Amino acid sequence: MAKRSALLIVPTLAALVAATAALAAAAPAAPAAHAAAAQTATAPQAAPAASSGPPAVTPDPYSDGSVQAGAAKATMCFACHGPDGNSVSPVFPRLAGQNAVYIAEQLRLFRGGIRQNPMMTAMAAGLSDEDIDNLAVFFAAQTPSGLEADPTLWKAGQALYLSGDRKHDVPACVACHGPTGQGNPAAGYPALRAQQSAYVVTQLQSYASGTRYSGPNATTATPNSIMMFTIAKRLSPAQMQAVASYVQGLR
Ligand code: HEC
Ligand code: HEC
Repeated sequence: MAKRSALLIVPTLAALVAATAALAAAAPAAPAAHAAAAQTATAPQAAPAASSGPPAVTPDPYSDGSVQAGAAKATMCFACHGPDGNSVSPVFPRLAGQNAVYIAEQLRLFRGGIRQNPMMTAMAAGLSDEDIDNLAVFFAAQTPSGLEADPTLWKAGQALYLSGDRKHDVPACVACHGPTGQGNPAAGYPALRAQQSAYVVTQLQSYASGTRYSGPNATTATPNSIMMFTIAKRLSPAQMQAVASYVQGLR
């Protein structure tokens, strides 16, 4: 067991496989596809979507998007998400440095009414697929900055982030979100570094309650979403607060 937790500190492929395997019982949505996505670091589109499973793999904004075209469009996002995606208000997530595959995927979910938020539904409604890819690579190219971790919370948050909570079958966050919270662009796992802790807590609650996405297949709305629905349910409110504070301070 000691060996396994040591592995989980580093987001190697073995750690990813271990983390997804730990969830396999609760997550029947083809964990092999996640491992395949992690393996094909240079070809994120190579992971095949199971015909009966979640929607097809996200198009690759890294090859299709233009940072320059995205910059022109992004000014309409700054009012809420802050200059260059570093939001000031904790209710608006930071987008700076977020991975482009994840940004594009979430914008399509807002546009399709699957992730529901009155402000974002209105914003995403007018975006073309090209706009989405351009905006995604623009925000991915920005440098995240933000608040620090709460000194009374970050130690507990760090322990959970790096080692998980074996008693409650919670895998280490680091396995998928990376040692500096940078996420995993090839696999489409979001970055968490510098993210507003209030926003992180809200999202963990919405996964836990099953409301992050709507519709008949809410927990499999994205190829990877079942993992977070499973993990968040196992977290206590205190653990959510602590780990949210920790990631807010990560760079
Ligand atoms: C009027 C305020 C507002 C504007 C303008 C706005 N957003 Fe948002 N955005 C939000 C809110 C609020 C959320 C959080 C929604 C939630 O809690 O589910 C959000 C969430 C997002 C997310 C999901 C982030 C994550 O980490 O999952 C993305 C991506 C996003 N917005 C992109 C954009 C883009 C691109 C634009 C400009 C075209 C834009 N937003 C304009 C308010 C806004
Ligand atoms: C097995 C991989 C994996 C592990 C382990 C994992 N996550 Fe995630 N996480 C994901 C994926 C994939 C998503 C995107 C899910 C989706 O499509 O909605 C995500 C999304 C999130 C989000 C939403 C981000 C946003 O911008 O809205 C938060 C917050 C989060 N995870 C926190 C955590 C925390 C805290 C832990 C540890 C307790 C953790 N995750 C462990 C894979 C993982």
